[in-house]
Amino acid sequence: MPGDKSISHRALILGSIADGDSNFRGLSTGADVKSTAACMTALGVEMEDGVVHGAGLHGLRRAAGALDCGNSGTTMRLLAGLLSAQPFASELRGDESLTARPMDRVVTPLREMGADAQWPPLIVGGRLPLHGIELRPAVPSAQVKSAVLLAGLFAEGATAVVEPVATRNHTELMLTAMGAEVSIDGRRVEVQRVDHLAPIDMEVPGDLSSASFWLVASGLVRGSRVRIPNVSINPTRSAFIDLLRISGMTIDVDGARSINGEPVADLLVGYAAELRPVSVDGTMAAEMIDELPVLAVAASQLAGTSRITGAAELRVKESDRITAMADGLSAMGADITAVDDGWVVKGPRHLEGARVRSHRDHRIAMALAVAGLLADGTTEIEDAECVEISYPGFFDQLESLC
Ligand code: S3P
Repeated sequence: MPGDKSISHRALILGSIADGDSNFRGLSTGADVKSTAACMTALGVEMEDGVVHGAGLHGLRRAAGALDCGNSGTTMRLLAGLLSAQPFASELRGDESLTARPMDRVVTPLREMGADAQWPPLIVGGRLPLHGIELRPAVPSAQVKSAVLLAGLFAEGATAVVEPVATRNHTELMLTAMGAEVSIDGRRVEVQRVDHLAPIDMEVPGDLSSASFWLVASGLVRGSRVRIPNVSINPTRSAFIDLLRISGMTIDVDGARSINGEPVADLLVGYAAELRPVSVDGTMAAEMIDELPVLAVAASQLAGTSRITGAAELRVKESDRITAMADGLSAMGADITAVDDGWVVKGPRHLEGARVRSHRDHRIAMALAVAGLLADGTTEIEDAECVEISYPGFFDQLESLC
């Protein structure tokens, strides 16, 4: 698997403000993480081949122009947090998709902390000092949580986030590994202002969200047996594995170990003949938000009605993923109805290859490719090169598995 995208972003951002050189092996080579690297370089940080020469907490320099976050929401939101705490203003820009995504969810809490922050366009920083807050976001979001925690590293007093649903905790784990004072109590996480962050040495685990395409494909394609080595099984990311197991798939975890606090293992999955439909509510949806497009594909093959709800956030991802998957799978013969916050999918249905649209959204392209594996005939996916965002080499691997 490619290196975990969420961990890779945090590695480059936190490594940039550490005191000294951090070493990361297996960073994601996707375009999103390259956007983060380019932004940090524009802010004066040197990095090459997984080595980040940390500039220290106060070593970032004003970029010559606007920072280009490309397609990456994680880059834009996490950097909004970090840069809101700098003595200079920064403008963050993105592509057409990112420009349309909501940024008020980071701007509002950063302003509450005393920062200058405005959107649109997104301009943050230049006004200090910041002070800690306790944020209780209505929508669960690891990006918002991380933005506030990053600003909190520079703020007076404690900064806390109390989440409605526990989201991925990579920021908290990496900050702890770098020596920051982080306390976690259930869904409440608190950071204190720091004097310095220690550099770290880390092997980035494989990305479970990328592995989810192969979990579904091998569970559904007769005769399959797939081993996926070195994947993150962080409990804040692994709810999708639990759900596939409830549906009847056998997914074995082999050689579980921990790398800088991040749990990692090999996953073994094979074809399962009798699978039950799934039911996903708001809590579960938040825990497997990036895996939901490929879950919709799986649901089209499960005997019975699957209800995937509480996932309105999918409408503000890289594309409107509810509409994109409903349109793509319907064109292939699935019985899928889009509702406001998810889908109702009746299965199993025979899928036929069709020409479908990725909406330039990497996860839609890969989910529809898995549907194409299950379908008779040829599936043609428009703008399929967008898989480069998170998974360069996806189609090569698909080909080698067929
Ligand atoms: C991410 C958080 C999630 C997820 C995204 C990566 C992160 O977004 O969908 O792919 O790395 O923090 P939200 O915070 O908007 O839910």
